[in-house]
Amino acid sequence: MSLSRLFATAPREKAMRAYALFEALFEDDGFALAITEIDEANDILCVEIYVDGDAAGVVSRARNALDEAGLSLPIENEPLPDIDWVSKSLEGLKPVRAGRFLVHGAHDRDKRATGDLAIEIEAGQAFGTGHHGTTAGCLEMIEQIVRREHPVNALDMGTGSAVLAIALARLAHIPVLATDIDPVATRVARDNVRLNAASAWVRAVTATGFDHPEIARRAPYDLIIANILARPLMGLASAMARHIASGGSLILSGILERQRNAVIAAYAGQRFRHVRTIQRGEWVTIHMKR
Ligand SMILES: C[S@@+](CC[C@H](N)C(=O)[O-])C[C@H]1O[C@@H](n2cnc3c(N)ncnc32)[C@H](O)[C@@H]1O
Repeated sequence: MSLSRLFATAPREKAMRAYALFEALFEDDGFALAITEIDEANDILCVEIYVDGDAAGVVSRARNALDEAGLSLPIENEPLPDIDWVSKSLEGLKPVRAGRFLVHGAHDRDKRATGDLAIEIEAGQAFGTGHHGTTAGCLEMIEQIVRREHPVNALDMGTGSAVLAIALARLAHIPVLATDIDPVATRVARDNVRLNAASAWVRAVTATGFDHPEIARRAPYDLIIANILARPLMGLASAMARHIASGGSLILSGILERQRNAVIAAYAGQRFRHVRTIQRGEWVTIHMKR
């Protein structure tokens, strides 16, 4: 059967109302619905309905419902080519190289070369397949810091898929406490740790920031990695200072280039000094030391 993407764009409030309307209207049809921000500056969202089959009939039902609700929105119909989307989406996730690390999906096991430190991660419910500039930047920095500083006790805050915790553990063979605010991510992290034979070193727990007794119990850390976002990272600066060992290193990421100086300033205020910044696309990864 042919797949179509029906979509409408509108300012946030209107788009949210249309989405709620479609959710109720198509509840029994099983269509996939999505709502995504497409223009941050003007607060414009796009509402999508993926229809397998008679798209014209769905467009007219959607139009009638919108009209009745007094929401006039043009709905566009984009027929999608007949492609095996599952293989296609996996195809898009090519293996990623960062230093010695190769992050790949199960479908690319044959791409591993001698000397690679291969980490198998499926695109799933947690962030971190290696494709994002922040993850790749962190992987590169982990390799450099392990080579120069030989850390012995590490924390990976905001572990997501656990890609960084696994990389660090497999490279340095040291204990890594991996934490995430999201229990789904923690579950995915545990599965990936097992899959990548890193259970002897990595333990994953659900925690917001430093709020977990095990984080305090294992402190101080001579390496803390946190690929979160600039704003929470700035808020965590003083707690980072309390949990880092003297001479310890921080790898901070999830920071846009324009936010870099503010993050460095927040950490300089806690007696960290900036060592190096890696830029990948619009994202930076920062190495600070205390
Ligand atoms: C950008 S992802 C990074 C995932 C992985 N570490 C990587 O580098 O690919 C950020 C992760 O941090 C988690 N997170 C966000 N805020 C957090 C907080 N305050 N404490 C712990 N985890 C947090 C999110 O749930 C998400 O899984």
